[in-house]
Amino acid sequence: MRNLIIAIDGPAGAGKSTVAQIVARRLNYVYIDTGAMYRAVTWLTNQEKIPLEDAAKVSEMAYHMNLELLYREGKTTVRVNGLDVTQEIRTPAVSRLVPGIAQIAGVREAMLKVQREMAGRGGVVMDGRDIGTYVLPNADIKIFLTASVAVRAKRRWQELNNRGFTMELAQIEAEISARDKADCERDIAPLCQAPDAILVDTTDLTIEGAVTAILNICKERSTVV
Ligand code: DC
Repeated sequence: MRNLIIAIDGPAGAGKSTVAQIVARRLNYVYIDTGAMYRAVTWLTNQEKIPLEDAAKVSEMAYHMNLELLYREGKTTVRVNGLDVTQEIRTPAVSRLVPGIAQIAGVREAMLKVQREMAGRGGVVMDGRDIGTYVLPNADIKIFLTASVAVRAKRRWQELNNRGFTMELAQIEAEISARDKADCERDIAPLCQAPDAILVDTTDLTIEGAVTAILNICKERSTVV
């Protein structure tokens, strides 16, 4: 299969990063996790003690930071100014702050430039919220990966439970609904399905089922694009 550009967007909990990584591995493509990039900006903002509400300063920092996503043997290492922050960007503190940082126009512009450069030569699977709509509007294949709120809440509950946290399922479901609404209604880079994206609903699919569905779409499309 020639070096396609595959964009996968969708809400949190749809299984995007897990599925996108496996698809990339099977095709021998590079996987680019754009959420990790916003997380890295958030981490550095904290590290440099820049007030989160100072959009100009945060944007300037995002433009000048050296952000690297090194993808080797199916694993992504995230480096900021030469430092490995792969673990640090997954802390609850970063998760809490990243939506605010991801809303800053200057930060998005800085990331856009890097993301387009990364996708340049093709042979990539890039996942995020605005990849098919904005970052790579000419992607060969666009997938919108989603699942019902109830199923996404159940998966999140299970994941928290595995890590030793207990939380009410109803509360998780309410939070996911609120976040969906905020993501879809935000002014900048709202989460929405591109008109030419193919919907893959993982509500009743296993991870392998979702991977197979996407690989089949790639096979069909690669003969026509
Ligand atoms: O997928 P994730 O949870 O790692 O994403 C982290 C944050 O970044 C989340 O608040 C959504 C945001 N994001 C975004 O606005 N645009 C993207 N292309 C990717 C992520």
